[in-house]
Amino acid sequence: MKIGIIGCGSICNAYFNGSKIFPMLEIAACADIRQDAAVAKAAEFKVTAMSVEKLLADPEIGMVINLTIPKAHAEITLNALNAGKHVYSEKPLAITREEGRLIQETAKTRKLRVGCAPDTFLGGGQQTCRKLLDDGWLGRPVAGTAFMLCHGPERWHPNPAFFYQKGAGPMFDMGPYYVTSLVHMLGPVRRVAAITGASLKERIAECKEHYGERLPVEIPTHYSGTLEFHNGALVTMVISFDVWAHGHAPIEIYGSNASLQVPDPNSFGGVPRLKNRDMKEWQDQCLSHGYSENTRSIGAADMVCAIQANRPHRCGLSLANHILDVMHSFEESSVTRQAVEIKTTCDRPAPLPLGLIPGQVDL
Ligand SMILES: NC(=O)c1ccc[n+]([C@@H]2O[C@H](COP(=O)([O-])OP(=O)(O)OC[C@H]3O[C@@H](n4cnc5c(N)ncnc54)[C@H](O)[C@@H]3O)[C@@H](O)[C@H]2O)c1
Repeated sequence: MKIGIIGCGSICNAYFNGSKIFPMLEIAACADIRQDAAVAKAAEFKVTAMSVEKLLADPEIGMVINLTIPKAHAEITLNALNAGKHVYSEKPLAITREEGRLIQETAKTRKLRVGCAPDTFLGGGQQTCRKLLDDGWLGRPVAGTAFMLCHGPERWHPNPAFFYQKGAGPMFDMGPYYVTSLVHMLGPVRRVAAITGASLKERIAECKEHYGERLPVEIPTHYSGTLEFHNGALVTMVISFDVWAHGHAPIEIYGSNASLQVPDPNSFGGVPRLKNRDMKEWQDQCLSHGYSENTRSIGAADMVCAIQANRPHRCGLSLANHILDVMHSFEESSVTRQAVEIKTTCDRPAPLPLGLIPGQVDL
């Protein structure tokens, strides 16, 4: 199946390079609202540059990889579905719950697949944690913590203003990694109770491109909440652009028999660490699975194989829509001062098999 990339910005190299690892990713064309960006990437990676309209109209292209900015995700994904293409999108799936629902309905009506990043949970670090859980090393998962705490991107990002505008912020930029990792390990979320806030009304850009510019803050920059999972686990989660330093592990899962430290869900590798009541120290765990280096695009590769094998793809649409719903429920809970029952659900994505060689997602 030939693939066309729409959005030739920072992250597209990861997908072009991914096609060297995963032979099923046959990238034939690329497009961008900035024609010069598409032409440059086409020359670099020896594919055909097209306009977005031409790419969507090309009958040879069976799947679009949507690497545009978040506020363009829903529009590009819907246009591609309506042009008869499968779509794999960067995260988040969309900005609003309504857009997420429309994408689900359109994909169903048109009998097409939609997949969505993050795919970091298919990396060796996260897959090993999933295996430890599924093999019973922790016993019954009862609780957990997830912390993504930093002071925002205005010191280093060349265009930091949008991070503080609607549809962005720490939850929609980084939350997908953390919530997806938790749902991959524990299953879907039943309820969320949260309070959100913002410590600053405006930020000052420190990057050289916009040095000294005032950036109005339109959205929460600190989210503090508890997620109740359908399996009964209660996870405390804090996602923030208001913190200079902290000492928490990214994710910890507490089971009835043991605790697990989960590596950074925004990476493919890392070392999971386990400690049960008889161990004096945390014990580093060997990785059961490969793909512990940056392998962004594995989710798209898995989707191509899944379409060919007629099996569910791991970075699935109901998973992405559930993640979007859970992320929105934090602010909804804060505004309404009530816990939010999560209406969407999803299956846990199937774990990757053991013993894959590089480039494989199925045995
Ligand atoms: N940069 C990263 O390290 C990174 C990592 C993981 C995920 N992501 C995700 O990848 C996506 C893209 O991020 P990025 O950093 O590459 O952004 P970017 O701004 O560098 O690139 C986005 C590209 O999309 C193009 N574009 C925007 N609207 C368009 C439209 N309507 N039609 C066609 N092209 C359009 C822009 O011209 C730009 O070239 C985001 O969803 C982001 O969350 C980025």
